[in-house]
Amino acid sequence: MMIMNYMDHAATTPVRAEVIEAMTEMMKSQYGNPSSLHRMGLQAEHALDTARDQIASFLSCKVEQIVFTSGGTEGNNLGMRGFLPIELPENSNLCIGSVEHSSVFQVAKELERRGVECRLLPVDIHGRIIMEEAVKRIDANTILVSIQHVNNEIGGIQPIEILSKQIRKAAPKAHFHVDGVQAIGKIPVSMKTLDVDSYAFSGHKINATKGIGALYLKDPKASRPILWGSKQERGLRPGTENVPAIVGLGVAVEKLNQEFGAHQAVYIKNRNALLHAIETELDQTLVNTPLSLEEAAPHIVSVSFAGVKSEIVLHMLEMKEIYVSTGSACSSRAKGNRILAEMGIASKWLDGTLRISYGWELGPEKIEELVAALIEAVGEVRELTMR
Ligand SMILES: Cc1ncc(COP(=O)(O)O)c(C=O)c1O
Repeated sequence: MMIMNYMDHAATTPVRAEVIEAMTEMMKSQYGNPSSLHRMGLQAEHALDTARDQIASFLSCKVEQIVFTSGGTEGNNLGMRGFLPIELPENSNLCIGSVEHSSVFQVAKELERRGVECRLLPVDIHGRIIMEEAVKRIDANTILVSIQHVNNEIGGIQPIEILSKQIRKAAPKAHFHVDGVQAIGKIPVSMKTLDVDSYAFSGHKINATKGIGALYLKDPKASRPILWGSKQERGLRPGTENVPAIVGLGVAVEKLNQEFGAHQAVYIKNRNALLHAIETELDQTLVNTPLSLEEAAPHIVSVSFAGVKSEIVLHMLEMKEIYVSTGSACSSRAKGNRILAEMGIASKWLDGTLRISYGWELGPEKIEELVAALIEAVGEVRELTMR
């Protein structure tokens, strides 16, 4: 039997054994509602406290600054919208990076429909926000800035600390939200050094389950909920807590805390091997991911092949049980690649782009298998289309 080679970790990751074990235990025997007054309720409440501790310690923040959400999308919505006044000020604007995930982009578009001017901060060919252009767009009327920490298609890192300083200077009243979904576990993240107002992440990108995440809020008292109901999460996120998934998220984060260095070593080895193979064994390619590890997270390599439709290559690899992506899972069914086009990548490359995102559990032989399959598939497609 062929062993599966899953290289789409930026879309989602397998749930790790320790998470499944902890969640199963919660579902089997500690299934109380944390709001119940009896012992089983207290047990569940205690489990929530433990997970909050694990996450706060990982992010270097206070436990009361963590709100559990249903994932990155909700975290980005609450982070961006929770701080806005009920009446949006006249002549106000918001600024987002031009290569944001749709869970940020579409919030900005909705606010635009409500009268706030939406300004896009342009990026360079490596997907990095162009600082001189950003400072021209952020001003005293900016009420919100939202920028991702790591891009989901190419893995590029935005210089959040530098951006934060610029934002505080140019727009002292603006709320600065960061989408950290692709950053957690892949690059060092600390709320002590970043100076952001909110930071969202998601469980299913770090070997916990789908439908769970957390949001850091610098000043939780200044935020309003975006859902209305009971008092869970101090009223910021009403609804009975998804206790098993929250426990799983805590365990996943705790394991990341312990294994961060080891994961980095695997990512970097895989990345170096893949980049070397692309350079030496595959011709007419363009690597979209920044080559320097100061500018890119180590778990994603985006590469374009001239004269090839990457969707065909994707399905050819799939037949060998190798799973990659043509872009972000959320936009892969949409037409065109908005992110790469914003980066100024020439159109001849756009259709031939593959995103390869490997996990810390994959050994170097998996990269070798992928490269061999890629050489074959790209070669075959080119031969067929060039006849
Ligand atoms: C950068 C980024 N932000 C937000 C999200 C949305 O997270 P979730 O799937 O947990 O809603 C994703 C998921 O692909 C992502 O990659």
